[in-house]
Amino acid sequence: MTSAHRDTSSSILSVLEELSATWRWGGPPTLLTISHRPPKPTVPAILARGVDGHTPLDLLAHWIDQCHRHRGIVNTQRDLGVDAVAVSGEIDGQHIGYAMDRSGLEYLVRGQRHGPERRRTSGTDVAAGTRPPDRLTERLAELVWRLAGPPPPAAGSRIRDMWPTAGLVDLDEDELHERYAPPAHNRGHVRLVTVSSIDGLAAVNGSSAALTSSGDQRVYRLIKREADLLLLGAGTIRAEQYGQTALSAPEIARRRANGLPPYPAVAVVTRSLDLDLSGPLFQHSAAGHTHPRPILIVPAAAAAERGTAVAEAAELLVAGEHDVDLHQAIQTLRQRGHRRIVCEGGPSLAGQLAHADLLDEICMTIAPQLLAVAGPRITAGPAGQPADGRWQLHRSLLDEQGNLFLRYTRPGPSDRPVG
Ligand SMILES: NC(=O)c1ccc[n+]([C@@H]2O[C@H](COP(=O)([O-])OP(=O)(O)OC[C@H]3O[C@@H](n4cnc5c(N)ncnc54)[C@H](OP(=O)(O)O)[C@@H]3O)[C@@H](O)[C@H]2O)c1
Repeated sequence: MTSAHRDTSSSILSVLEELSATWRWGGPPTLLTISHRPPKPTVPAILARGVDGHTPLDLLAHWIDQCHRHRGIVNTQRDLGVDAVAVSGEIDGQHIGYAMDRSGLEYLVRGQRHGPERRRTSGTDVAAGTRPPDRLTERLAELVWRLAGPPPPAAGSRIRDMWPTAGLVDLDEDELHERYAPPAHNRGHVRLVTVSSIDGLAAVNGSSAALTSSGDQRVYRLIKREADLLLLGAGTIRAEQYGQTALSAPEIARRRANGLPPYPAVAVVTRSLDLDLSGPLFQHSAAGHTHPRPILIVPAAAAAERGTAVAEAAELLVAGEHDVDLHQAIQTLRQRGHRRIVCEGGPSLAGQLAHADLLDEICMTIAPQLLAVAGPRITAGPAGQPADGRWQLHRSLLDEQGNLFLRYTRPGPSDRPVG
């Protein structure tokens, strides 16, 4: 064994020691390691052969190939009953050891040969930290995402296929991701994501909180993770105390791998500009995450009257004179490169987008609740003039609590009514 190999193993040992000291899942963790030698006899070293002398990046690439051959990395991890993954190597004269447990907690050890500097950190810090080379960090995070997977789904949120095939009963994150994959084209796509009761209510006592569930949150989070921009009406920001989404390092790595920025931008349609600028949406930097400044989409009259008051907290996008012209707003967002827009409502904004024929897809959850009270539906609009209401069911899923997930798309142009 060369001295470099010894040092690499000692980095892994540091990771293991730290992991053992804080392990929260009972028993010693079973670790999957990527290393030149098994650091401990109890630790399965899956890649002990054929990698000596390779760089850490080679090891990672080799490992990913290995796992692909084993029916996908997540399945491999399940089959092996592994609790966490650890990788270690030397890059630019620094030793880097890394592990992640099933809850998503990450362990990073780095340092010079004889004085390892240790640091335990949360997922996002690893991605945000400047010390480990970016390329390695991203590769590690992507690897961990695929290998250890995100934390196991919360109780009651196992999801199964319903239509067009009633097949798999416990979709993992990769399978769920595939069920909600956005279209391959890059022309721009607007997806409405929404939840309603059986009797069509979109809010109870002014909020949709009572309608959501662990399964709904799982799908909702996955759809948001695919977005490069989240579009909302100001009523929803006020009603839901809406704030920025925190993403883990593997989620960010996955976004990057899909050609997306680390975080989706948030754009709010408003006329009044009556928004709490000290509220959670306007905290650009929270818990180690740096979010893009929110965009406020406003008509020219509002920008002239109140634009300067919000200029520090947000970016203004002017579209329309007295009301926001949604055609113009979406076109401008697209021109700025926002191709995957997810509209989170609320009903007023969703209704206008439907009337303007600007929605390409609807992802809705029907919660198994019959509430029989007055309240908003998922869209609002004027009496008398219905929007073109033709949609096709593209996919449906069901969770173990009875939440039904429906994905609708527009019929092809030849199926749509003319005029
Ligand atoms: N179940 C669900 O999926 C779901 C999703 C989202 C929201 N909700 C619920 O829906 C309720 C809120 O409903 P809502 O209809 O008020 O929400 P909304 O559509 O989010 O917001 C309406 C507001 O957006 C602005 N706006 C909309 N269109 C505009 C235009 N063309 N030009 C300029 N400004 C425009 C106005 O803001 P200003 O007043 O600032 O001018 C308007 O008051 C809440 O109870 C919320 O919990 C449910």
